[in-house]
Amino acid sequence: MSRQRLIIGVSGSSAPQLAWAVLGALQHNETVETHLVLTKGAEKTIDLEMGFTRDHFEAVADVTYDPSDMGAAVSSGSFRTMGMVVVPCSMKTLAAIATGVSGDLLARAADVCLKERRKLVLVTRETPLNLIHIRNMETATLAGATVLPPVPAFYHQPESIDDLLAQTAGKILDQFAIEHALFRRWEGTSSTVAHNAIPAHA
Ligand SMILES: Cc1cc2nc3c(=O)[nH]c(=O)nc-3n(C[C@H](O)[C@H](O)[C@H](O)COP(=O)(O)O)c2cc1C
Repeated sequence: MSRQRLIIGVSGSSAPQLAWAVLGALQHNETVETHLVLTKGAEKTIDLEMGFTRDHFEAVADVTYDPSDMGAAVSSGSFRTMGMVVVPCSMKTLAAIATGVSGDLLARAADVCLKERRKLVLVTRETPLNLIHIRNMETATLAGATVLPPVPAFYHQPESIDDLLAQTAGKILDQFAIEHALFRRWEGTSSTVAHNAIPAHA
């Protein structure tokens, strides 16, 4: 059986480590093939925040694309995919998606997902938010996207930054129903556990 294709867009907001965590989690996945589109802006944040080159980052993906190649496979709805995650999603890329201005391959691939009614997850990263950001998130949501900001949770008792990154990566994979063991799921408080059930945190 051929693997399902997941498009991973990486734009130039802070925290490219989030994309690295998603790519790492899928690197040896036998059911999902990763298709990576990394913008020029992302190339800069990856250099400044991780000290990696584009080539180093792209090496963990199955397929990579030049962000200016508007004729690439992912620019067409006839190229079947399970959808796309933009992680992290800059406010510029969010604006491009919300207004349908497909100026680069990442924005075009996201536009294609919306028009084909495929899953599009936007891991928007900025704080604080201005009204333009909020309205663009609303527009993207109304058009069918899921806005999934990288908001850390602590119920799984993270001990490191990697634990926090893994939790957001897991939340992203959940959106596509991709199996993972990136974080411990909440199973309810002990008071809600039946007497003969196995404790959630055993
Ligand atoms: C180190 C660094 C961190 C940045 N962080 C953010 C951010 O968190 N959110 C954001 O919207 N833009 C951020 N920017 C600005 C974007 O990189 C910039 O708007 C860029 O044009 C986005 O282009 P792209 O979306 O095509 O990648 C950051 C820029 C740099 C250099």
